[in-house]
Amino acid sequence: MSSRTVTSLTNPTVKAVRALHMRKERDETGLFVAEGLKAVIEGIETGHRPAILMHGPDAAAHPLAKTAVVATLAANGEVIEVTQDILAKVSRRDNPQAVVGVFRQAYQPLSTLEPPAAPCWVALHRVRDPGNLGTIIRTADAAGCGGVILVGECCDPYSVEAVRATMGSIFAVPLYRASEAEFAAWRNAWPGSVVGTLLSAEVDHRQADYAKPALILMGNEQQGLPPDMAALCDVNVKIPMRGRADSLNLSVATGIMIYAAT
Ligand SMILES: C[S@@+](CC[C@H](N)C(=O)[O-])C[C@H]1O[C@@H](n2cnc3c(N)ncnc32)[C@H](O)[C@@H]1O
Repeated sequence: MSSRTVTSLTNPTVKAVRALHMRKERDETGLFVAEGLKAVIEGIETGHRPAILMHGPDAAAHPLAKTAVVATLAANGEVIEVTQDILAKVSRRDNPQAVVGVFRQAYQPLSTLEPPAAPCWVALHRVRDPGNLGTIIRTADAAGCGGVILVGECCDPYSVEAVRATMGSIFAVPLYRASEAEFAAWRNAWPGSVVGTLLSAEVDHRQADYAKPALILMGNEQQGLPPDMAALCDVNVKIPMRGRADSLNLSVATGIMIYAAT
């Protein structure tokens, strides 16, 4: 079912896919890795086409793998069958997925974002943890958010760890990037509410006015939202902390905020 079989770790395509674990390589090529047939099919169903499709010897049995091969070849992508050992090296896992797709990153220009297209949008200031970022993208997808805006220096949504945590939603949720200054200027034209999240806020998150479209602004895992970013919001809110924990995990807090706003 594949166009050719590769058994060597020194094969240039195998080396190129392995190198995508490094951010520098992802930034330079504009590519990223999505593991597993479910994620690859999700990508294809949402209009993305693998530049490279790698599959193990057993994958041929699955009809959806054939769909992925056909879609890749139709888009002039490369399809290779590889050994289990190569799949394990590519995914850095003992039990690798049988199918790995390499796709093009799809950041959208902030200027193309249309606020009325969704009731809720999420902006993340300096998010650092790829697991948090992937979980937030997945949650934004589940709740019907319009997209996620990465503000300032953030971790890479296209890292293998973040993509894994999205469970396929990396393909469904539009992603935007902005510096702090670009975000501050762009926010001035926001037609709905901008709601920030601060542990020191006095407004309960359930009392805020989430005038649509609502833009939720979340802070960094360690530092939280700095005063200059909080000042950009119409209101800053706090999710009640009733026990001894001093804060919620960023992705959990974002999920609570998204559902409060929608
Ligand atoms: C782990 S918290 C940051 C904790 C940080 N030490 C601070 O003082 O803000 C990461 C982000 O999650 C959100 N968050 C966590 N718990 C929250 C809460 N109880 N109310 C509102 N936002 C919260 C905020 O956006 C915060 O910036």
